[in-house]
Amino acid sequence: MMKDASDTSATLLAEQRPAAATEEFRTHVLAGLAGTPKKLSSRYFYDAEGDRLFQRIMAAEDYYVTRAEDEILREQTDEVLKALANGHKRFSLFELGAGDGAKTRHLLRRALEQGRDPLYRPIDISENVLEQLEARLKKELPALRYHAEQGEYFEAIKRGFTDPSEPKAVLFLGSNIGNLTHERAIALLKGVAEYLGPNDRFLVGFDRKKDPATIRRAYNDREGFTSAFNLNLLHRINTELGADFNLDKFIHTPEYDPSSGRALSYIVSTCDQVVHIPGAATAFHFKAWEALRTEISQKYDDAMIDDLAKHSGLRITEQFTDSKGYFTDVVFAPQRSRR
Ligand code: AVJ
Repeated sequence: MMKDASDTSATLLAEQRPAAATEEFRTHVLAGLAGTPKKLSSRYFYDAEGDRLFQRIMAAEDYYVTRAEDEILREQTDEVLKALANGHKRFSLFELGAGDGAKTRHLLRRALEQGRDPLYRPIDISENVLEQLEARLKKELPALRYHAEQGEYFEAIKRGFTDPSEPKAVLFLGSNIGNLTHERAIALLKGVAEYLGPNDRFLVGFDRKKDPATIRRAYNDREGFTSAFNLNLLHRINTELGADFNLDKFIHTPEYDPSSGRALSYIVSTCDQVVHIPGAATAFHFKAWEALRTEISQKYDDAMIDDLAKHSGLRITEQFTDSKGYFTDVVFAPQRSRR
C-alpha cells in the first residue's frame, strides 16, 4: 500500500528516502557532537537493531513502564474505550509512535467485540516496526480497518487530520512524551489539540515519579539491554555514517534526579580519544569521562500534568492509573471548541 510500484511518486520517494534520511542523520550527529555538552537525540535509537533491543527492554523484568501501562489498557479496557470513542461507533484512532501496537490491541480487540468500527491509523518513524505491526494486525484482527503511515508525528498529523467532521481519537502511549523537553512536549500537545474537534479525544501516557531506585533500575536493567540500546547509537553512526567509534571505550550511565523527575541517559568516554566522521570539518575529541547525552525520560506528577494541559489548550476528562500507581493514561479534550 505504501510501496505501490505503479505509483511513480511513491516509488521515487521510497528510493530517495534512505539517502535523505542518512544526510539528515549526519547533520544531526555532527551538530550534536560539536556542541558543549555533546548530545544526540533518542529518536535515532530505532534502527533495526535498536527496535530489537527496545523489544527486549520492554520484556525485561527491570523495565516496569510497559507492563504498568499494559495493565491499565488490559484491566480498564471498557472505561478507556468509552472515554476515547466518546459515543462514536465509527471513529479514526490515530497512534503516534505506535511501535509494536501490543497495548493498543487490547483496545482494538474490545472495540470490534463491542461492534464499533474504528479505523486504526498507526504512525511511526520506523518502517521496520510498521511492517511487523501490519503483519500482526492482519493475523490477529482481520476485521480491523487500518492505515499505517511511516513518518514524523507532526507531518503525519497534518496529512492525516484533514476531515474535521470525522470523529477522532489520538493515542500517544508509553510515556513517549517523556523524551521531549518541556517546550517540545507543549508544542506537540498543542499541535494535536489544534486539530481536535470538541468531541475528539487525546490519550497521553505519563510515567509517574516513584521510588528513585525503581526508576534507576529501569534505565540500567540487569540484563544489559538498556546499555546495549544506548551504545547501539554509536554503532549506527559507525555503520551508516562511516565513523570510527570504539565501542569498548564508552560506557552507558543513566541518572535520575527525583526533584525535577528527569531520568537522563549518558554515554561516557572512558579515556581521552578522537573520533572521525566523514563529512565533518574536524575530528571529535572526547576527554576522559566526558559525557554525551542520549535521552531524557521525564517522570511526572499530577501538578506537572495539569501544567502541561493548561499550556497546551487541553483539559483532562478522565485519568486511568495502574494498581501500583506507576503510570497514568490521561484523556484530554480540547479546551475551547473550534470555530
Ligand atoms: C520509549 C521513550 C518511553 O524513555 O522509557 C527505554 C525508551 N529508553 N529504556 C523510555 C527507553 C531506555 C522509553 N520510551
